Amino acid sequence: MGLDNNYQLLEREMAADDPWQLDGNPFERERHHQMLRLSLSRESITNALEVGCAAGAFTEKLAPHCQRLTVIDVLPRAIGRACQRAKRWRHIEWIVSDVQQFSTVEVFDLIIAAEVLYYLDSIEQMRGAIRNLTRMLAPGGYLVFGSARDTTCHRWGHAAGAETVITMLNEASLIEVERVHCQGELSNEDCLLACFRKPI
Ligand SMILES: C[S@@+](CC[C@H](N)C(=O)[O-])C[C@H]1O[C@@H](n2cnc3c(N)ncnc32)[C@H](O)[C@@H]1O
Repeated sequence: MGLDNNYQLLEREMAADDPWQLDGNPFERERHHQMLRLSLSRESITNALEVGCAAGAFTEKLAPHCQRLTVIDVLPRAIGRACQRAKRWRHIEWIVSDVQQFSTVEVFDLIIAAEVLYYLDSIEQMRGAIRNLTRMLAPGGYLVFGSARDTTCHRWGHAAGAETVITMLNEASLIEVERVHCQGELSNEDCLLACFRKPI
């Protein structure tokens, strides 16, 4: 992602006290509750990757359940804030990186990517990010995906949302284990979460 409109939009959001109201909004708290429940489908989490941490609202909930956790975000300010918030944990590695370029020799038994992929500029970029994440997922590992729905993302000016990416994840040979619909009172509060397993 370059210094384009999306990046500037993200930087403006990250300047808020509670970016995207991830702490204060009951819909977001319920969404995080469901994301955590799906993440804990595994008996134990050895090595997890969270993509797009914002100010660390979900990181804080996930961290106590992981032996090791890597957190990436394209914004240095997001990594700075989340790292400060979760500083009581020593098992988290913080990396400023775009999901499209992030690379490591490690594999993860859990990857979480929620409300992130629609910031990419095109469907092709989303497909590339999915290839990258799928490559880093261990056989038998789980990927928890979340997104506002296609119609909402189109309204926000993004290329695609939940339904399109869930189709791509199914085409990437992952097995869909569970899908959850989270809905609040506002029209924007409408998202899908889906948990996928990589075949062994
Ligand atoms: C709406 S917040 C989502 C926070 C959290 N994942 C959740 O579901 O509550 C989006 C986050 O994704 C990050 N992000 C957006 N595009 C990204 C990219 N290409 N690579 C990595 N992080 C990205 C943003 O900087 C921001 O912190």
